Amino acid sequence: MDFHEVIHTRCSIRKFKAAPVEPEKLERIWRAVQAAPSACNLQPWRFLVVRSAPMRARVHEVLTLRGFSPQTFALEAPLVVIALGNRTTAWKRDGESILPVDVAIATEHLVLAAAAEGLGTCWIAAFNRGAMHKALGLGPEWEVVALTPLGYPDETPRKTSRKPIAEIVQEI
Ligand SMILES: Cc1cc2nc3c(=O)[nH]c(=O)nc-3n(C[C@H](O)[C@H](O)[C@H](O)COP(=O)(O)O)c2cc1C
Repeated sequence: MDFHEVIHTRCSIRKFKAAPVEPEKLERIWRAVQAAPSACNLQPWRFLVVRSAPMRARVHEVLTLRGFSPQTFALEAPLVVIALGNRTTAWKRDGESILPVDVAIATEHLVLAAAAEGLGTCWIAAFNRGAMHKALGLGPEWEVVALTPLGYPDETPRKTSRKPIAEIVQEI
């Protein structure tokens, strides 16, 4: 797949096959994540891979907490990747951390690299971040930004719509 094909093939996948992800595909995905740019090249991220039954159970519990619609489809996938940002090391602009931007860029590298490998992902941000932080046993320096399931798609979702370019691009 060329770059534009990858971009236009990617879509959110919410149904997964149980088939495992091959290690060589994972390796290419991590290399794509590693290559992501970040403010001052600080790379203030860490990606947790959830594979074991006990960790899956912990994540499942958080994804079913009241307040958000349950995102349990994520646990259908053989892997769940949780994107963290480091509050201590991320660059700050006017006192405000750039952490979510850096982590989002690296996570999107993961998402696009996965699409290039024929794998499905879905950004998930609708969960109780405090509860997730606790369930993962993280230190105070870590912020949970998002998570995504990672595995082979078991659905072909309908394309979602986008705003016209004329509405989103403006010459000034
Ligand atoms: C930051 C972010 C958070 C999202 N959170 C969720 C979520 O919690 N649950 C979910 O099912 N989809 C979530 N999505 C997926 C969006 O709904 C999806 O990207 C959008 O509808 C466009 O569809 P597409 O990804 O298939 O192109 C999220 C996407 C982004 C970028």
